Amino acid sequence: MKKDTSIDWANLTFGYQQTGLNVRCKYANGKWGDLMFSDSDTISLNIAATCLHYGQEAFEGLKAFRGKDGRVRIFRMKDNAERMLASCKGIKMAELPVELFCEAVCKVVEANKEFVPPYGYGASLYIRPVIFGTTPRVGVRPADEFEFIVFAMPVGLYFKGDKETTPFMLTRKYDRAAPLGTGTYKVGGNYAAGMVAGEEAHSKGYSAVFYLDAREKKYIDECGAANFFGIKNNTYITPESTSILPSITNKSLQAIAERILGMKVEKRKVPVEELATLEEAGACGTAAVISPIERIDDIDTGESYIFSKNGEAGPVCKKLLKHLKAIQNGDEEDIFGWITYVD
Ligand code: PLP
Ligand code: COI
Repeated sequence: MKKDTSIDWANLTFGYQQTGLNVRCKYANGKWGDLMFSDSDTISLNIAATCLHYGQEAFEGLKAFRGKDGRVRIFRMKDNAERMLASCKGIKMAELPVELFCEAVCKVVEANKEFVPPYGYGASLYIRPVIFGTTPRVGVRPADEFEFIVFAMPVGLYFKGDKETTPFMLTRKYDRAAPLGTGTYKVGGNYAAGMVAGEEAHSKGYSAVFYLDAREKKYIDECGAANFFGIKNNTYITPESTSILPSITNKSLQAIAERILGMKVEKRKVPVEELATLEEAGACGTAAVISPIERIDDIDTGESYIFSKNGEAGPVCKKLLKHLKAIQNGDEEDIFGWITYVD
């Protein structure tokens, strides 16, 4: 357990660091046990555990923010709990009750309050719940025992650069998830599947890969570990797909666009050629927040879709980001009921 909390809040990266206590809970004999605190950041695991061999693992990512008033706010915790439950069902893990998830998250935030960055640094406490199969198996079958752990650490920006906007690499060479596969679940295997593509993008100077649908390679899926949205004619447009993660940030932006900015929202298939008609484009997610897109280079065809020439975000991206942050930090009224206070 880390005791020294002297942290350089202004220069946080999006990286792991050991903090205070984490919370753990085991599932055995058909039921979840009690939540326990741990001051260790390691686990003991059977060498044949299903999570190691067959990828029986799911995780979540959510954030807590400190407001001007000093209070700590967790953003849309119940939505993450529901998505983790869906992931559990999707890869045959014990179902994690929404209430247990929320109790564990609140306990971890409470126990790590000194690691929640102060207001004004653009930083937050990133909360990482993870669940995995622990039963030793060599035959491919689901585990009977599972462990659920929640830990947290302060983080800064995910896509760090010297500009407000970031470049993406579009290619048809890789798929992240199959049309009827596990793309809608937040399971580790999807991220392993994207590592070769991701590293190629990084080595070429891009922030992440821009994926098209795996079946036809015609429609936009998502961008790295973030959903995609485009803006045109006062409309917020975002892909409908059976292989992307249902992003909670994306849902939040749709609500802000509609209810606060008075925009239209379209959730539908977005053909790749439509990129040429968009006024603005962005990647969104808990880690990515809103990362306005500078340009998308199609490295297969040589075409470039450019959304920003001077490195600045467009006006709608700026407004969406302003309202999202203001609700998260408590500067703006939470008209949607997204915030849980831990104090
Ligand atoms: N898509 C993928 C593949 C992700 O890993 C994430 C991150 O969680 C997102 C989208 C964004 O989802 P959310 O806004 O719920 O964090
Ligand atoms: C998140 O945005 O919470 C993610 O999980 C993205 C990534 C760091 C895997």
